[in-house]
Amino acid sequence: MAGRVRKMTDTYGRNINYMRISVTDRCNLRCRYCMPEEGLRLGGKGHNNILTLEECARLVQIAAGIGIHKIRLTGGEPLVRRNLVKLIGDIASIAAIDDIAITTNGMLFAPMAAGLQSAGLQRVNFSVDTLEKTKYRYITRQGDIGKLMASLYKALELEMHPVKINMVVIRGFNDDEIMDFVRLAYNYPLHVRFIEFMPVGDLLYWRQDRSLCSREIKAQVQQEYALMPVRAIRGNGPAKYYKLEGGQGSVGFISPLSNHFCGDCNRIRLTAEGKLRACLYDPREIDLKTALQNQASDSELKDLFLSAISLKPEKHSMHSGWGAGNKRKMHQIGG
Ligand code: GTP
Ligand code: 5AD
Ligand code: SF4
Repeated sequence: MAGRVRKMTDTYGRNINYMRISVTDRCNLRCRYCMPEEGLRLGGKGHNNILTLEECARLVQIAAGIGIHKIRLTGGEPLVRRNLVKLIGDIASIAAIDDIAITTNGMLFAPMAAGLQSAGLQRVNFSVDTLEKTKYRYITRQGDIGKLMASLYKALELEMHPVKINMVVIRGFNDDEIMDFVRLAYNYPLHVRFIEFMPVGDLLYWRQDRSLCSREIKAQVQQEYALMPVRAIRGNGPAKYYKLEGGQGSVGFISPLSNHFCGDCNRIRLTAEGKLRACLYDPREIDLKTALQNQASDSELKDLFLSAISLKPEKHSMHSGWGAGNKRKMHQIGG
């Protein structure tokens, strides 16, 4: 087994300890900003190129050996991946991993929740862009808000705290619901994160004028609520959190466009096809799947992780657009 390190530092002195794994590029929804209506557009290719669950677990083991101790499973929709519970169990059995979370659209979560939790899933973030049934159907093209709400309540009932909500704020679509989401965070122990709409993937639906900056959203919230900064919400991502005076949960802001949080970046991304990406915005990838197929040893795989980390840029180049060389879509990278 590759040697264990306690801390991995990249070229810019950042501590790399978090890996986001897209376990599938498939999804049971078709959110307008993420996927085309017809689904995957990559020529109907089968799933031969997708990492097997055994390969995934082995890569987590290697990653743990270079200082990764937090894992988030994303997609597409992670819960459409068959035997995900088994993968979670395998990851949970790796001693160095102390945080296992998923990001899900919640369609399948409620009936699976207890099994996921018993396998070792600790936390869950839900994508919820609107609380209105018809708007939910519109943005997801096929989602059922009833199932999503049942999943949110189930996560609370199972005390999978902190339970988080991701709302991508889109001007003209859901900016009129910001205060409804704040009230949700006030009334329930839920942590609502308002995310700036980023130009990623195919730029389906994205337009500059649909993006709202966190400052605007925060100012709106502060007209009704006093916000108190908090550090204590468990998590590994870039959100900045505030408690609502007298409320149960919190609101958070994820500001990739207006605030460069790259200086604190702690993460690498593994795509469903087994490519390591050092930055959401950087098209360069290290191919682990081919290495696995070529019987790479643990120490060779470890070196590939190290080369990916050495490629990690100081910051993203989001303001110059997604770029023609950036072939991947959001549902393939996992957010
Ligand atoms: P916690 O561990 O709970 O903090 O999770 P997280 O916020 O890291 O994960 P989640 O999958 O819920 O991501 C929330 C949003 O933050 C998504 O829109 C992501 O695309 C965005 N995000 C997360 N990490 C990065 C990043 O490194 N760069 C950019 N630009 N956006 C990111
Ligand atoms: N901008 C901001 N957030 C996005 N997500 C997906 N696409 C975008 C985008 N263009 C969010 C999803 C999900 C998370 C993984 O990424 O809503 O909650
Ligand atoms: Fe890290 Fe790239 Fe995200 Fe910036 S955009 S926080 S460097 S992954």
